[in-house]
This record gives sequence, C-alpha cells and structure tokens, in this order.
Amino acid sequence: MKTKEIRISISEFEKLEELSTPDQELIRRARASALQAYAPYSNYLVGSALRLENGTIVTGNNQENASSPLGTCAERAVIFWANGNYPDLAIETLVVTAVDQNGQPAANVSPCGACRQVMLEAQHRFKKPIRVILDSSNKIEVLDNINDLLPLSFNGNSLKSIV
Ligand code: THU
Repeated sequence: MKTKEIRISISEFEKLEELSTPDQELIRRARASALQAYAPYSNYLVGSALRLENGTIVTGNNQENASSPLGTCAERAVIFWANGNYPDLAIETLVVTAVDQNGQPAANVSPCGACRQVMLEAQHRFKKPIRVILDSSNKIEVLDNINDLLPLSFNGNSLKSIV
C-alpha cells in the first residue's frame, strides 16, 4: 500500500484590478453575459467568457428548461459554441461567474462536475492547458490547468487502454 498526495495550485486575488487588463476584460464580459442568462427556475445567473488562442472572446450563460435536466450550464454552452465555430483554435482562458436576480455577484463560484469534465475534454483536444478564472464576490481564483479542478479524471487516454 502507498499513499499519494495531489497538490493543486490556486492564485487568489481580492480585487479585479489586481489582474491583467485582458483578464479584467474577460471577467467583465462574463459578468455581462450572466445578466443575459435564462434561469427563471433557479434565479442563479451564470456567465462564462473564454478567450481563444487568437484573442477572440466568446461568451455564454446558463439556459434552463421547465424540464430541468434539459437545461445547460454556462460553461458548457460557451465551450461547445466556441469549439463548434472555431474547431482549430484552443481555449486559452475561461472565466466563470454568477450573479443573483438583482445582478449582485455571487459568492464562492465553482463549476459543476459535468462542466469540469467538458473543460477537461476541451483541454485534452488541443493539448494546451486552459487557465480558469473563478470570479466570485468574495475572491477571484485563477488556476493554470483544468487538471487542478478535476484530479484523477476520466479522459480519452483511459479509452485507449481497452484496445
Ligand atoms: N450552473 C451553471 O451554469 N454552471 C455551473 O457550473 C453550475 C450550475 C447553472 C445550472 C442551473 O441553471 C443553475 O446554475 C443552478 O444550478
């Protein structure tokens, strides 16, 4: 028996102004997109913005449905749109944020497990690390690699092991 420890690295900022100008712009775009979410059932408005390797910014938000499992999270909406429309461009940085129905920023924003898995696929696909910025009212967290959000993940390499 052996015990392994997994370390993850998170940079935490208190204020938007501590980040670079391009990152501030991306966060502002995610916040604006959150206000355009369709979330009449949860009233939890999530916005996501990503920057592709050529500098293009794409935004998205959560889209709910009366039949709740059919709704889509903001992160998956924006990643699928970006990968569908720019299939040759890797995602460089992705922001996730949330606001309440009054437009007030939410605390402790963190992507759901399904979205982490989809982010991981986007990273795996282009073989380039995706930076993730989690923008909350109480802190802004930056991770340099999706692996830090989903250790011990299932990915395409696992499938290759059965052939
Ligand atoms: N939601 C997201 O958009 N992203 C996440 O990572 C977590 C949850 C949405 C789904 C649903 O519309 C609402 O937030 C409440 O769960």
